[in-house]
Amino acid sequence: MIQIDNLTVQFGGVKPINGLTVSLNRTISGLIGPNGAGKTTLLNVLSGFVIPARGSVSVNGRRITGLAPHKRAQFGLRRTFQTDQIADDLTLWENVEAIADHAGFIDKEMADYSVEQAIAYVGLSHRIHRKGNNLSTQERHLAEIAKALIGKPELVMLDEPGAGMSETETRHLVNIIKGIPTYCGAQVFLIDHDVALIAACCDETMVLDFGKLLALGPTHEVLQDPEVQKAYLGGFEDLELAA
Ligand SMILES: Nc1ncnc2c1ncn2[C@@H]1O[C@H](COP(=O)(O)OP(=O)(O)OP(=O)(O)O)[C@@H](O)[C@H]1O
Ligand SMILES: [Mg+2]
Repeated sequence: MIQIDNLTVQFGGVKPINGLTVSLNRTISGLIGPNGAGKTTLLNVLSGFVIPARGSVSVNGRRITGLAPHKRAQFGLRRTFQTDQIADDLTLWENVEAIADHAGFIDKEMADYSVEQAIAYVGLSHRIHRKGNNLSTQERHLAEIAKALIGKPELVMLDEPGAGMSETETRHLVNIIKGIPTYCGAQVFLIDHDVALIAACCDETMVLDFGKLLALGPTHEVLQDPEVQKAYLGGFEDLELAA
């Protein structure tokens, strides 16, 4: 469970998050909002990369405000990045293994098992020896997710994992995201512009509109909300992924 209280982030004169109070209790929670709405900034606050001007954040009852990113990782907070962090000159295995090195495994065998399982879970076992620069956009996004599943995650935060994917690839991604709570017991916090992906994955969705909470509730209700549709100007065309 994510509890955010009176959160304000200030970059110079800009407040990308302004007095945000929200509680996310469902297994898979979504976050949508127009470009520049503050979505990545919120994820950066949760993962410790941005220090808020005011307010507090708790995850599963533990206050994490003020903790360094590596301490949060030890608490089971995991994230992916909007621009993937896959090293081009390392193999897929080495990219994922680098996370296991810092995840506090007591022996190499357990670390290797976690790496193997995470790569298999995202469907990339056939790519373990491939260098990062020879992975497709989809494979790089999936590799980012595999990295986030190492160790004992409690909260997995995904920043636009569906960007640049085809519809077939997105369907595979839906299965992966929806399976994460069963795979490792973690809550998932999903940011994406693809409302069909959000609709397919998320039990609840919040909408940020330039730092303010515009809506929060069951995903289908939120996506039908006229205020939300207005924030997206043209509204949404495809809420369903094609069969
Ligand atoms: N480090 C920073 N310094 C100054 N301004 C920043 C910084 N990071 C983000 N911003 C500004 O904060 C606002 C919110 O940015 P953010 O990246 O959180 O938006 P977003 O909702 O993730 O957008 P997108 O959908 O394009 O990814 C923008 O106006 C952005 O320019
Ligand atoms: Mg962003």
